[in-house]
Amino acid sequence: MDVKFYEYDVVIVGAGLAGLAAARELTAAGKKTAVITKLHPLRSHSGAAQGGINAALGKNDSTELHEFDTVKGSDYLADQDCVELMCTKAPETIRWAERMGALFSRTEDGNIAIRPFGGQSQPRACYAKDRTGLTLLQTIYEQAHRAGIEVFDEWYAADIIYKDGKVSGVSAFNIRNSQPAIFNAKATMFATGGYGRAYKINSNAHANTGDSLSIVARHGLPLEDMEFVQFHPSGLGGSGVLISEAARGEGGRLFNSEGERFMTKYAPNAMELASRDVVSRAIMQEIREGRGVGVAKDAVYIDLTHLDPSIIMTKLPELRELAICFLGQDMLKEPIMIAATAHYSMGGIPVDINCHVRKNPTELVEGFYAAGECSCVSVHGANRLGANSVLEALLFGRHAGENILKDLDKLTLRKASKEDADTMIAEMNRIKTSNGDEQVPKLRAELQEGMTMKAGVFRTKESLVEQKEALKVLRARFENIRIDDKTSTFNTELQEAIELGHMLEFSMFIVEGALAREESRGAHYREDFPTRDDDKFLKHTYAYMDKEYNITQEYADVVLGKFEPKARTY
Ligand code: FUM
Repeated sequence: MDVKFYEYDVVIVGAGLAGLAAARELTAAGKKTAVITKLHPLRSHSGAAQGGINAALGKNDSTELHEFDTVKGSDYLADQDCVELMCTKAPETIRWAERMGALFSRTEDGNIAIRPFGGQSQPRACYAKDRTGLTLLQTIYEQAHRAGIEVFDEWYAADIIYKDGKVSGVSAFNIRNSQPAIFNAKATMFATGGYGRAYKINSNAHANTGDSLSIVARHGLPLEDMEFVQFHPSGLGGSGVLISEAARGEGGRLFNSEGERFMTKYAPNAMELASRDVVSRAIMQEIREGRGVGVAKDAVYIDLTHLDPSIIMTKLPELRELAICFLGQDMLKEPIMIAATAHYSMGGIPVDINCHVRKNPTELVEGFYAAGECSCVSVHGANRLGANSVLEALLFGRHAGENILKDLDKLTLRKASKEDADTMIAEMNRIKTSNGDEQVPKLRAELQEGMTMKAGVFRTKESLVEQKEALKVLRARFENIRIDDKTSTFNTELQEAIELGHMLEFSMFIVEGALAREESRGAHYREDFPTRDDDKFLKHTYAYMDKEYNITQEYADVVLGKFEPKARTY
């Protein structure tokens, strides 16, 4: 098939909150903007965010308190200039979303309702029942449509067009018929979300395979802080499907098999509302020490039966449905089983405060931007607070759009040629004609099992070295795959093989970063180095991959500010 050519001012990959917010701003300002997405936009994973979006709206709250909680939650690894930007702009972002049409839950006196979330000294998660992300996604999608965005849904962006320090679009193919295309643009933005699918138990959508990370890394560009993977404390037992932190925010209590409310041991003040890393480790520690519940004893209970049923029915209806559907457990009547689940990636494509992608700690890539979970602007550092991700996606997505708008006049269109699709087409052909012995689902299952067991909530040098070796072997075996579908129509086998290649590669960054970071900080817990070491590791990791999949790393300074690093207790 001949390569098709499209030309835009801006091409955005990903149609969750970050991508759509940017696209809306750009299109409303008259810029020709294309949004490329593997899914229909309303299937984007932003829609799965349940519990809330933070903004200091409470009468005892302040943006400075929000900043402090965020920096403390991050175990002091967040860049404080970016945190300040996020927290001070949060209230305005909520008002903007409201003006766009988002219907937040309200108090009886008509104010936007706020609920407590983990690691926060004040209630500040604004919400729409337990469907906050979906409400916002639908709203921003409508408004982006109204502004006239052009969506290429069920298209797979496979590579960036990167030459001489400048990105000028992407190569992509239409999933419906494998039609290859070049999307040539002055500015390119990635907003592709997270990569939780590298783990066996996770809360992520099937699409969350972190494609953009290895696409970037294959060009020798860095990834930042990849060792920091967040495990949400409450994934449904067995599946990892998210049971929002709102369940604990509304009063849910955790119990082990001995009926002990075990958080008294781990976070005597904040209890179930300590930050996520603390609660997840507590849950997994109880399970490891044999106090788990369920047939496999691999879960603990969250109990909401003491709450007024109207709280569950009006504020957590979706959670109740999920637990009934997946576990047959009704939270109105009985405790439900949960365990930690891979949920969020704090690391990603490094960007500066204005969402420009970094070439290294000091230089930027021209014409290239990123926002949302795939990026690392580092507002979350080593551990993200619940309800700060929806905020980050919406706020920095919009911010990226505004900054692209400012930059566009200075950016020139470098004309792409059909050869710019060569790498993508060669990869598609290699996979389609592959006839080896290895099956993609089997390799993927081995990857997910290994990442969960050896680079999960608890890590040691030994487990990480084993996983590093396992990844090398898996990467080599990936060269010997076979796919049976040789057709061009909705070839999901082809797509899953491409995605597996990405997962194998960015997983190497997670493992190498975790191995080198000989300390425990936030979500990264080394049993052999159980304390935080600010002297050596109050630093961001920048990691680069060569053509043989070797990773090299350097460290970059954290932007400190008004909050001095100190011991973190809850
Ligand atoms: O628990 C939750 O509702 C998830 C929110 C988040 O990850 O921010």
